[in-house]
Amino acid sequence: MVYNSKLNAARKAIEYIEDGLVVGIGSGTTVEIFIKELGKKIVNENIEITGVASSLKSHMLAVESGIAVSDLIQFPEPDIYVDGADQIDLQFNCIKGGGAALTREKIVAHASKKFVVIVDSSKIVEKLHMPVPVEIIPFAYGYVEKKIRQCGGRITLREGGGKFGPVVSDNGNLIADCDFGVLNEPEELEKTINFIPGVLENGIFSKEIVDSVIAGEEGGVKVLK
Ligand code: A5P
Repeated sequence: MVYNSKLNAARKAIEYIEDGLVVGIGSGTTVEIFIKELGKKIVNENIEITGVASSLKSHMLAVESGIAVSDLIQFPEPDIYVDGADQIDLQFNCIKGGGAALTREKIVAHASKKFVVIVDSSKIVEKLHMPVPVEIIPFAYGYVEKKIRQCGGRITLREGGGKFGPVVSDNGNLIADCDFGVLNEPEELEKTINFIPGVLENGIFSKEIVDSVIAGEEGGVKVLK
């Protein structure tokens, strides 16, 4: 079951958390498990942790789980950032943003001293190939759509579930999924997309910022980096 693989990855990441750390908290179903496990660790070991959450959802879940939550204003350099990924290639480049939280995720990933990716092993692929989530300022949408097409991407505005109309990010922007096929040069594409005026950020997280990768499996974990 995928759940067990995610649980195993999350539990391994919990081993990296020590008393007094400021912990960047990512978003998504794998991180949800991590947050709950972190809440248990705080109680069981009577330790003090401060979380910096990358989405409203993670912030709320952290509070529910008994984690003190602050922000990058107070803690501009969290000790560690733990987050999931939608795809990760063999060089450890990632695509993120399936939960539309990519911009804050990338900010916290860059801000933190160490970025630990937790995935179930089905996320690992030889080359990244899923559509790249892109956060776009609504005013610029038509222009960005044209530029993404000129760059060879097929762009689809993400529609909301439980809302009529497009998904709106925690930052009040639109999310589009941009299909470029197989990404042979993800780092170049990351820069190219971000160079378009009106793009706030995109979901390619290049390998340079990834310090550790924990791949959960049904019966255990592999620490790949
Ligand atoms: C959220 O925007 C994403 O970047 C998530 O980190 C990513 O989608 C992984 O989510 P799951 O852990 O739910 O697969």
